[in-house]
Amino acid sequence: MHKLIVSGGRPLEGEVTVSGSKNAALPILAAAIMLPGRSVIRNIPNLSDVTTIVRVLRALGLRAEYSQSSPNTVNVWNFQVRHVAPYELVTKMRASFFVIGPILAVKGLAKIPLPGGCAIGSRPVDIHIKGLTALGADVELEHGFVIAKTKKLRGGKVYLDFPSVGATETVMMAAALAEGDSIIENAAREPEILDLANFLNRAGAKIEGAGTEVIKVSGVNTLMPVDYKIIPDRIEAGTLLVAGAITGGKVLVKGAELGHMEATLVKLKECGAEIECGPDGILVTARRGINAVDIKTLPYPGFPTDMQPQFASLLSLANGTSVITETVFENRFMHVNELKRMGANIRLEGQSAIITGVPKLSGAPVRVSDLRAGAALILAGLAAEGETIIEDRDHHIRRGYDKITSKLTGLGAEIKDHQ
Ligand code: EPZ
Repeated sequence: MHKLIVSGGRPLEGEVTVSGSKNAALPILAAAIMLPGRSVIRNIPNLSDVTTIVRVLRALGLRAEYSQSSPNTVNVWNFQVRHVAPYELVTKMRASFFVIGPILAVKGLAKIPLPGGCAIGSRPVDIHIKGLTALGADVELEHGFVIAKTKKLRGGKVYLDFPSVGATETVMMAAALAEGDSIIENAAREPEILDLANFLNRAGAKIEGAGTEVIKVSGVNTLMPVDYKIIPDRIEAGTLLVAGAITGGKVLVKGAELGHMEATLVKLKECGAEIECGPDGILVTARRGINAVDIKTLPYPGFPTDMQPQFASLLSLANGTSVITETVFENRFMHVNELKRMGANIRLEGQSAIITGVPKLSGAPVRVSDLRAGAALILAGLAAEGETIIEDRDHHIRRGYDKITSKLTGLGAEIKDHQ
């Protein structure tokens, strides 16, 4: 049983560097299926989710491995691609479903297990499927597998019912090798979409408008291998900034891309933290007390749903009452009951959490339900009086945070990591 034991009450001080973006690494590694030959992908974080997608690539017949000489580099040798993705890996991590577009584009046939839901919601893939169908694929569901076939993908107009990050990435990858031009409307605008487009364009794709709600793709016949460095992780950066704010400390977060952090930084300032952005990075200095603020999660550039649990921890200690409304996922308040075990005063009403700040949180045994809930509980533990024993049975935290324990202890936190 994986357990973290956090002794709270110590202000975090010092500097820390963020790793590469998990949510850029996963689709970009999937897209390597479309690049024949050897590609080198750099600034890849050391995460179990990355290990999973690397194992999926290997199961598909590619050779993929972390470089021996550079810990954050993955080399991919792509000389053959099978069309069936392994059930146990795809159902283990939803993001493995990202391989459907690349396999279909390369093979004309893809058989991918329907990804399961998870703690934060049912997480269907209907928008992915609708997009591939619009590009000329026949898609069926059979015995828990999504089977997509096409003689040749052809360019088309795709309107996404919701600006789904994954569906935007699936359609953009498939369209890159389709015959003719495609337009993706109501596309997601997350920075990870732009990073994927930059990766594909480096390989010879013709994609314009990534990062806006209209993406234009002119299909090409083939792509070539690339050497590419992915963007930093804006959610890890935000999580580390909240760690400085919630503990009353002063933390310099280095390596983050300022332009990706707008909504998070605005909310941190509203909460009363002092934010200074300079050439060295983003410096957060906690001031006396935390202000109560209202937050509504939205697709980028709105406030990121992946930062919502972390702010729920911060606002649990605010002076006053805050309202957090989650509009992206249907069940992303699993951390609330655990925070209440630590003394937080939170009431759920539909898709909103009404948080009445309390003077202090107290350490308690808590349980991790999903990745960002785990981050929220670490943050609450850092601020709480006494010991918080965080039970992470399914190792959610290491799915998305590269060496988070050593990064936080490097800032003065007292965390013991029991495997
Ligand atoms: C990506 O997930 C991220 N994961 C998530 O990060 C992030 O929370 C999410 O985007 C929203 O920003 C990766 O990039 C690997 P969506 P994704 O498709 O693509 C519904 C983390 O903690 N939907 O934008 O799966 C869906 O149910 C993770 O790092 C459909 O209805 O998210 C959800 O309610 C968590 N049909 C909403 O859209 C579909 O076909 C947003 O989902 C697809 C999605």
